[in-house]
Amino acid sequence: MKTIVAPSILACDFARLGDEVADVTRAGADWIHCDVMDGHFVDNISFGSAFVEAASRHTDLPLDVHLMITNPDRYLDRYLPIARSVDIHLEADADIPETLERIRAGGKRAGLAINPHTPIGSIEPYLGKFDILLVMTVEPGFGGQPFMQDMLPKIRAAEKMRDDRKLDFPITVDGGINVQTARQCREAGANVMVAGTSVFRAKDRAAEIAALR
Ligand code: DX5
Ligand code: ZN
Repeated sequence: MKTIVAPSILACDFARLGDEVADVTRAGADWIHCDVMDGHFVDNISFGSAFVEAASRHTDLPLDVHLMITNPDRYLDRYLPIARSVDIHLEADADIPETLERIRAGGKRAGLAINPHTPIGSIEPYLGKFDILLVMTVEPGFGGQPFMQDMLPKIRAAEKMRDDRKLDFPITVDGGINVQTARQCREAGANVMVAGTSVFRAKDRAAEIAALR
């Protein structure tokens, strides 16, 4: 699978959202990763659907909306019109299969996200019901955290589960992804690199995106 680079706008200058989204689009990003946080599922509040909608007006790239919220089902309808993929957390307070199905019924790709402490075996019941697996490689809530090396075996296990069942979901890694950790994740089986700090803080964003790829 080709490597996808998805800059996370959590790390962009919120005061210049449109310019920042247009800039990473020009710099060669494949997707725009939007980290929605409710201050309950994670100990931080980031932005909501109005902000994501504003971002969508400055790019033609697919928006990958990562819902770090307790009740994804309650807010899903606000994101379906603007997102290409919506990632919900297995740990959320929702009927996971039903919510994943609603995302697919809305014509979008359903992502299942798992936190660092959630064992990879937990995704077993949902195999076949999601289109993307998002493996958190930091505790959710904040950008700029160090990559958790002990997530690498989990990525390898996810790849094995996928290949053993002849499924084809891409594996996203999210948190602390830079050129070095992206290489490790790629070798472990991940192909979608969410990168906030490493892209938005780079002197040359196009070069950073190319290096991540
Ligand atoms: C954290 C978010 C990540 C984060 C990545 O809760 O899900 O997407 O923004 O940011 P960096 O790349 O700075 O670790
Ligand atoms: Zn994210």
